[in-house]
Amino acid sequence: MNKSEPTTIVIFGASGDLTRRKLIPALFEVSLEGLLAKGTRIVGFARREKSHEQFRVEIEEALVEFARSKPNAGSDELKVFSSSCYYQTGNYDNGKSFHDLKELLERLDKENGVSPDKGNRLFYLATPPNVFSGIVGMLGQTGHIVDPNSDDRWTRVIIEKPFGRDLETACTLNKSLSAILDERQIYRIDHYLGKETVQNIMAFRFGNSIFEPLWDRRYVSHVHITVAEAVCVEGRGSYYDNSGALRDMVQNHMLQLLALVAMEPPASFAPNAVRDEKVKLLSAIPPIGAGDINECSIRGQYAAGTIDGKLVPDYLRENGVQPNSVTETFVALKLHVDNWRWAGIPFYLRTGKALAERLTEVNIEFRQPPLALFSHMQNGKSGGRGRMKPNMLSLRVQPNEGIRLSIGMKVPGQKMVLEPQDMEFCYEDVFDVESAGAYERLILDAILGDTTLFIRQDEVEAAWKLVNGVLCGWASEEVPHIHLYRAGTWGPYAADEFIKNDIRNSKAL
Ligand code: BG6
Repeated sequence: MNKSEPTTIVIFGASGDLTRRKLIPALFEVSLEGLLAKGTRIVGFARREKSHEQFRVEIEEALVEFARSKPNAGSDELKVFSSSCYYQTGNYDNGKSFHDLKELLERLDKENGVSPDKGNRLFYLATPPNVFSGIVGMLGQTGHIVDPNSDDRWTRVIIEKPFGRDLETACTLNKSLSAILDERQIYRIDHYLGKETVQNIMAFRFGNSIFEPLWDRRYVSHVHITVAEAVCVEGRGSYYDNSGALRDMVQNHMLQLLALVAMEPPASFAPNAVRDEKVKLLSAIPPIGAGDINECSIRGQYAAGTIDGKLVPDYLRENGVQPNSVTETFVALKLHVDNWRWAGIPFYLRTGKALAERLTEVNIEFRQPPLALFSHMQNGKSGGRGRMKPNMLSLRVQPNEGIRLSIGMKVPGQKMVLEPQDMEFCYEDVFDVESAGAYERLILDAILGDTTLFIRQDEVEAAWKLVNGVLCGWASEEVPHIHLYRAGTWGPYAADEFIKNDIRNSKAL
């Protein structure tokens, strides 16, 4: 990896969970690996009064609990890292707080021997979304943002999801950001893009020659993308109840997975070349309209059950959730990509909380051979209508990251009996190094100025256009059509039926 330039990283929302669990541990790991330039400083900004010392103590505690390399409390590595961290108390709508912050940053530059007009700044907005525009506005007003064309120094702003809660609010947010920042300075983060195995989707498709020729409507019969979580709302009930699975997972992570699986090969691996292809792909998906909402979507909500031997209450009894909430904790969608490559091929997306297991997987099912030569001779593991199971390629994003190809094999013996077998590649068995966490990769990319794995404005808007269709369809129902499922299962029975029937019908065509 390239080494970064000295930078001051300011985290807004420094007292929050994301900072403690993900951002500080990610920065610690990249600094341990020597990937942060000497002189890099981290400044936490939040409302709570706190001294630099108190902040450092909290940082060390968070690292002991959450850092990937499991440092010991009081170890030198923790001390060295925390000594590069500072804290600024402030309000997000108060000009004075931002002036105080500026003074602190300039003082740190001076101590580091960086001349006043040379300091690089990475601002990380790990706050609730309602203050995103306000913070960026304040940064603009108080002179924190430098000219995007400057050769001497740079300002970049990382923004966490959610980017709006529908198309309109996403456009409003984008407008208010672009009034202050150039698109080149905005890094909208989707942590799924920082996962090794998500990046491997592109490597797999475009770095090998054997699969890409099969990657289209002639050979693929349908694609499933599953992001199953065994966790519930984990103390985020009030956020989640206002969001739901569609906004929380589909608008961002799942549509990004879909875009990477289905997009055309980019002309190069340059940031805009990749992002152009993702936008083209998302724009080729016709939004689900109110007329076909029930044929193309199923939503569910979990009821009490057991996961890993632990009792889980009804979603409606979680803290922060409205007692009569109709927010979906599960969603299954059927989408189409109306382009030359994919016309007519269904893409099924499925995600939910409180499911049986944590599993993120892309399954590409291939068409059956044109002639069923061995249909009367298979080993009981049928693919329906007396045929072998179709070939399936599974890209496993998490856990047990890897790739599996299921093919029909002859069982040894006199008879021509076939049975499906898996060819498997498992990351853990092959590579001896632990993958860097998603935030490690992405924060480092932001410091290096590489926007490839960040979401561009038009990508966010294209994804919202799709999601808006579903939201409008659901809103048009007189009585919300929501299926309950028991926590610890694979979601509503209706979702399985819906997908199975749909596949059966499309094969019958
Ligand atoms: C977040 C969602 O973006 O992604 C959470 O807000 C979800 O609700 C999480 O649990 C899943 O991420 P991962 O990396 O654990 O699959």
